[in-house]
Amino acid sequence: MSSFPELRLRRLRRTEALRALVRESHVEVGDLVYPLFVVEGNKVKEEITSMPGIFHYSVDLLPKEVEEIAKLGLPGVLLFGIPEDKDEVGSAAYAPEGITQRAIRTIKKSVPELIVMTDVCLCEYTSHGHCGIIVDGYVDNDKTLELLARTAVSQAEAGADMVAPSDMMDGRVRAIRQSLDKNGFELIPIVSYAAKYASAFYEPFREAAQSTPQFGDRRSHQMDPPNWREALREVEQDIAEGADMVMVKPALAYLDVIRKVRDSFHHPLAAYNVSGEFTMVKAAAQLGWLDEKRIVLEILTAIKRAGADIIITYHAKEAARWLSPT
Ligand code: PBG
Repeated sequence: MSSFPELRLRRLRRTEALRALVRESHVEVGDLVYPLFVVEGNKVKEEITSMPGIFHYSVDLLPKEVEEIAKLGLPGVLLFGIPEDKDEVGSAAYAPEGITQRAIRTIKKSVPELIVMTDVCLCEYTSHGHCGIIVDGYVDNDKTLELLARTAVSQAEAGADMVAPSDMMDGRVRAIRQSLDKNGFELIPIVSYAAKYASAFYEPFREAAQSTPQFGDRRSHQMDPPNWREALREVEQDIAEGADMVMVKPALAYLDVIRKVRDSFHHPLAAYNVSGEFTMVKAAAQLGWLDEKRIVLEILTAIKRAGADIIITYHAKEAARWLSPT
């Protein structure tokens, strides 16, 4: 009874009820985290040209936006602050009254139960657009660590629930953990962008975060796309340093990496469905070349099937509407 004609795999695909019964992977609203971009100013709600439906918000408009996000059932947001004044050392990243810190306080005040995850990196805050301190044209690892740790502590002081270092400096997770603990934030988890590749899929984000490097690129610290064994070493390293949750980024072109990380480690795993992945779908949908709802749900399902627990995605609000009953 193990082969055709006794065996017919189509039997379990005949009706939607049967298909639903044997479905192996599920996307739930509770798995999705929505990225938010915050800028200086008042009453600013400005669409990002290359990311239709995604906006820059000023702090005063955040309460309305996060109430809507929470009402959709989304568990949290990943916050990116874009300061007006940038300098060589990214001071705005760790200023107590910085744009990100004010945004965190505003969100936590309006919807306390919404998880606020913050991006810890200097690229949005430096005049040169690099992720750390530049010494002789190179992003200096060890000098950058102290500033990343200060940034994470100041975000925690403002009320961030989790901090997510995306800079890819060596040793940042340990540096951040030690500073958080020293300052009384031993309960704030670190979500480490552990396997973050130097990817062309970040292009629209660079417009959104105004973080394009003024010279060179990020290949001296972000990972080389052909490597997967190295991704496991990055994850292993970050876990050894104290990461509570790890991330693979981007998602779609790296589903194999997500699967390998899932099979090798037991930590909660996030995948970042990045800006370029979003933009490709939006552009094709606007041209009427594909069915956006079906494509998005298929993509999110694929990321779950690959092994991710949590998906950070610009599709989160729309997906939440599509996934909710009725
Ligand atoms: C760095 C950061 C980047 C993204 C998230 N955090 C950009 C980069 O590394 O250049 C990309 C996210 C996306 O493309 O959606 N702060």
